[in-house]
Amino acid sequence: MHDLRHRDRPTDYEQRGQAWPVSVAPMMDRTDRHYRFFMRQITRHTLLYTEMVTTGAILKGERERLLGFDLREKPLALQLGGDDPRELTECVLIAADLGYDEINLNVGCPSDRVQKGSFGACLMAEPQRVADAVAAMRQAVQLPITVKHRIGIDDLDTYEHMRSFVETVASAGCDRFSVHARKAWLTGLSPKENRHVPPLRYDDVYRLKRDLPHLNIEINGGVTSMDGAEHHLSHVDGVMIGRAAYDHPFLFAEVDTRFFGSQETPPSRRQVLDGLGPYLTGWHRLGIPLSRITRHLMHLFNGQPGARFWRRTLSENGPKSACDPGILQIAASRVPDSVLDHRPPVDRSKVDHSSVDRSNVDRSMAVPPSPVAC
Ligand SMILES: Cc1cc2nc3c(=O)[nH]c(=O)nc-3n(C[C@H](O)[C@H](O)[C@H](O)COP(=O)(O)O)c2cc1C
Repeated sequence: MHDLRHRDRPTDYEQRGQAWPVSVAPMMDRTDRHYRFFMRQITRHTLLYTEMVTTGAILKGERERLLGFDLREKPLALQLGGDDPRELTECVLIAADLGYDEINLNVGCPSDRVQKGSFGACLMAEPQRVADAVAAMRQAVQLPITVKHRIGIDDLDTYEHMRSFVETVASAGCDRFSVHARKAWLTGLSPKENRHVPPLRYDDVYRLKRDLPHLNIEINGGVTSMDGAEHHLSHVDGVMIGRAAYDHPFLFAEVDTRFFGSQETPPSRRQVLDGLGPYLTGWHRLGIPLSRITRHLMHLFNGQPGARFWRRTLSENGPKSACDPGILQIAASRVPDSVLDHRPPVDRSKVDHSSVDRSNVDRSMAVPPSPVAC
């Protein structure tokens, strides 16, 4: 059990979260440390999330495997699955010690396994329980505590229900609401179907921001382009992107200049590969099969000449023990230089893009922390 005594505890529920214009959604089996390191070669400022980790796994399992990360992945949010305030508190203390930047509570996952544990999306029916969990976590650490949830579940799917859920949880000091803009059916649909069958209801999320302008509201679901993200940003504070970030990672090459005001030149794919080389070497020396890393790189050249050879070479050689980090150069050998060296054009006029009134959202932490040097 961690000792609470030596920590600075907040005395009230001042808002500590910041509005990240763009983040990559938590995704099981996808947003592991290797994927995150890869994404960090493409965007330095986007907020990244872990996969969901349950409190039970953290408290009973192998912490290094579940929670270990490279400091260069920051800014990084840990997503927790759980509902017990004491267990959640223990977990956030561990996360704070490890250096995570934020904690996110999963109130959006509809899987059976999660429901059996009585957490995830089914918690949308119990706003006070979520509020108690948020309050306990806030009391324990200074880190922003955020909640990812759905528009609704089953028959609790009206705008009024979502708003009331958000108001209850906000009163416990939740720093940001990441709203997957579709409801979830807890029975009858698989988690995968729950990600595309229920229709997207963006207007409900926009209305939430209009009605509760002091809250930090991030929209999620179905965003596949940065023009789409920019459109949402005229209504809400942030945009969380999941599947498109995995299937089209290089979309994020323009994010730092377009949404975070970075003055740095956007990266080329060649630079991404150069950044990954030493990383692969380091893990190779530890005897880790490189396929654990290369499986996340498959889509780097999607739609470009040489992409098929890239994917085939990585999938055929990554699992082999003899495969060494030079595999990236071999796999990219049929990609033309013009593709390897291409960078997204910089249009700085788009940085101040949003007309949403965010004047009430607390901006005290609004400057993203500088990334740890690579
Ligand atoms: C493979 C996969 C795994 C996911 N795992 C999680 C998870 O661990 N926690 C979570 O809150 N959402 C999870 N999600 C949902 C995403 O975070 C996101 O809400 C959803 O995919 C909708 O966003 P998108 O349309 O941009 O993909 C997962 C989605 C996918 C595709």
